[in-house]
Amino acid sequence: MMLSFRRCTSLVSHSLSSISAITITSSSFSTGTSRNTSNTILDGLSGTVGRTPLIKLHKLSEETGCTIAVKAEYLNPGGSVKDRAALFLVKDAEERGLLKPGGTVVEGTAGNTGIGLAHICNSRGYKCVIFMPDTQSKEKIDALRVLGAEVFPVPAVPFDNPNNYNHQAKRYADGMDNAIWTNQFDNTANRRAHIETTGPEIWEQTNGAVSAVTFSTGTGGTLAGVGTYLKSKNNDIKVVLADPQGSVLYKWFTEGALERTDGSSITEGIGQGRLTDNLKGAPIDWSILVKDTELVKMTFRLLHEEGFFVGASSGLNVTAAVEVAKTLGSGHTVVTCLCDSGQRYYGRLYNKEWLKEKGLLEAIPEKYRSGLH
Ligand SMILES: Cc1ncc(COP(=O)(O)O)c(C=O)c1O
Repeated sequence: MMLSFRRCTSLVSHSLSSISAITITSSSFSTGTSRNTSNTILDGLSGTVGRTPLIKLHKLSEETGCTIAVKAEYLNPGGSVKDRAALFLVKDAEERGLLKPGGTVVEGTAGNTGIGLAHICNSRGYKCVIFMPDTQSKEKIDALRVLGAEVFPVPAVPFDNPNNYNHQAKRYADGMDNAIWTNQFDNTANRRAHIETTGPEIWEQTNGAVSAVTFSTGTGGTLAGVGTYLKSKNNDIKVVLADPQGSVLYKWFTEGALERTDGSSITEGIGQGRLTDNLKGAPIDWSILVKDTELVKMTFRLLHEEGFFVGASSGLNVTAAVEVAKTLGSGHTVVTCLCDSGQRYYGRLYNKEWLKEKGLLEAIPEKYRSGLH
């Protein structure tokens, strides 16, 4: 089996004993949970963030005997799950008086948070400056520039290197007047977005009948926020961390060591080399390591069998959801999210030559390869 799954109850306390649990405090800018767009005028672009549909995947549900349901996060106005974090980071800075009219928002991002921030900055009158590793897709850089952000692609170096994209973003903001570094990795306004919106939405949309959620993590905001909210409603709901190859979080959870698993991953925006403040204290029950061959296969199944054109982290999330469903047994409801659209990855995940170069073309069922350019 290409997928590694481990239940680690004995290691939960080992990993988390020194970290206090996240407490839920409500901010004044909760977006609420019920959306009825047919008879409501939404409040500008910010009002369109969140309240995404929760959708049952028919084939995979049938195969597992469970309901596998996905939050369609690619339907957010900036096209990804990161719009929620972007909105909360900006509003948090406004509320704390750190960002004044006409100011500049600076962030280090793999791209999606930047795209979310660029939309929100345009709608609220701020400038946006983005530092991102030069390993990310060209489509995301192009999108950021079209949106009016100033983009600095910088060499991809580890977090402990002063030239890591996050440190460069902080230095840039520190050197300007009326500028903030939103610091998505360690600013917990990020996970608050998911405590106050994504978590309650999942609870309401399933009428509380959710058995497990599973998310891959970049900052950890989605997993920690949704997990914290759902555990506050029902502590039996399983919260599962899904990790790509080459990230440290799977071993952190299973062995208590911040050590990378073998290999590297083609996924963007997920996988970590450290424990972010957003992830600290997250109530995690299990962890799953998903290999690129598995997630690429699933991403193409999602396209050809379920109809969803999405990026690789969505393929990873759904691979994990299926594994969780199989472990729980039939009759359960497992929720995850489709993080962003496949349109951000034409030159990579949906490019035959690139897949061949990465040794991943064979992972895609032959009948699904014909449309690749
Ligand atoms: C495509 C994609 N999927 C998943 C994630 C992970 O979300 P989080 O940062 O909330 O862990 C990100 C984060 O940037 C992302 O860009």
